[in-house]
Amino acid sequence: MSKFTVEGKQRLSGLLKVNGAKNSALKLMAASLLGQGIFWIEDVPQIADVLTMCGVLRALGVEAELANNRLNLVVNSLQGRPPWDLVRSMRASIQIMGPLLAKLGWVEVAKPGGCAIGARPLDLHLSGFEKMGAVIETTNGLIKARAKRLQGADITLRYPSVGATENIMMAAVLARGETIIRNAAREPEIVDIQNFLNKMGARIEGAGGALIKIKGVTDLGAADFKVIPDRIEAGTYILAALISQGEITLENIVPEHLGALLDVVKTLGGEIEFKNGRLTVHSPAKLKPFEVSTNPYPGFPTDLQPQLVVVATQAGGLSTLRESVFNQRFGYIPQLEKMGARIKVKDYTAFIQGHSPLNGANLVVSDLRAGAALVLAALAARGESAISGIEHIDRGYEQMEEKLSLLGAKIKRSLGKGGLSEK
Ligand code: EPZ
Repeated sequence: MSKFTVEGKQRLSGLLKVNGAKNSALKLMAASLLGQGIFWIEDVPQIADVLTMCGVLRALGVEAELANNRLNLVVNSLQGRPPWDLVRSMRASIQIMGPLLAKLGWVEVAKPGGCAIGARPLDLHLSGFEKMGAVIETTNGLIKARAKRLQGADITLRYPSVGATENIMMAAVLARGETIIRNAAREPEIVDIQNFLNKMGARIEGAGGALIKIKGVTDLGAADFKVIPDRIEAGTYILAALISQGEITLENIVPEHLGALLDVVKTLGGEIEFKNGRLTVHSPAKLKPFEVSTNPYPGFPTDLQPQLVVVATQAGGLSTLRESVFNQRFGYIPQLEKMGARIKVKDYTAFIQGHSPLNGANLVVSDLRAGAALVLAALAARGESAISGIEHIDRGYEQMEEKLSLLGAKIKRSLGKGGLSEK
């Protein structure tokens, strides 16, 4: 097992290029199943989850090659039963369900379990497919769905689930007639998938708003496409800069996608400049406390909640952070307490005492964003920290230690490369 060793208290500064968005790239890969032919997708992050998705696509009959952040996919004939272990190892692989059901008329996929950040049911995905005429049966952890041809439907989501919005949108693209998704998730990644599918020949409008309309077509071709920048990766490095009292500049960034975070940066006392396509963050001498709640986009992203909690430990006074998206996303807090953080959690809200000097410690990562948060804590701590379980970090951050080292952090990976085999 690999681990990071981090020597804290180094100020971060310099220029960093943000990768393409994990949470878009994975869904574009799933969406390609709806088409036919040769795809070139640019700015695909070389992270473990993308490699897992390459494995899923290959098992379904797709040729998939990733090199230098360019992904080549060749989609011809497909089968609809991906290997159980691959699907269970990554929740995002459930996004192949809508495309395969629409394309083949059937799909059999392992049901992903809950995970370290909470219960993650699929009721909104499955009831959406059922509304479109699919017959679904779940036995012994296997979901089997069938439909001769899906029918357009008017679907209102009880909650703006990102995954359900995407899965239903992808299924509807080849359905007969029009599908309307109400109370749809509005994340930028959903707009990216709409743009990709429309380039393949789909007729979708409204993504980015709460009402999406999809007019079904009979078939789709291939497309060349560039993935949008990863707003969560960008946000993670912005918060890393603040916690180190540094100043960093990011390129490949869409500031509008970072609105809620940039508001918090200002509350913290940070200054932001956007010039020539680059965003620079200057840290204040003293960070100010804040009150924030995570929310679906355009609210503050749950995927930056753990990193912001760490920043709060270094702010002046008491900060509060309410988690409203997932029901168990504070599991990393005992690790921070080992370092000297003073945090109480009550009813999904973390109350974080600022002015808490952190000390280096042996830390264990439980999930992707918790891992990023522990790295930030180690950067702020006095002395050395050893962070194990970094395969979780490799799922979503490309070469995090190399990027942080470029900014002046003292961070090293030891014992292997975390299983990333494709370059
Ligand atoms: C996506 O997960 C992201 N994953 C998550 O990023 C992100 O945290 C999340 O959206 C919210 O922004 C990918 O894009 C691969 P949801 P997803 O469906 O689609 C409930 C990361 O760290 N819900 O919007 O699974 C669910 O329980 C990851 O990069 C239902 O009740 O999120 C949760 O409370 C982690 N029924 C809420 O909705 C359903 O059928 C949000 O989930 C589906 C979801």
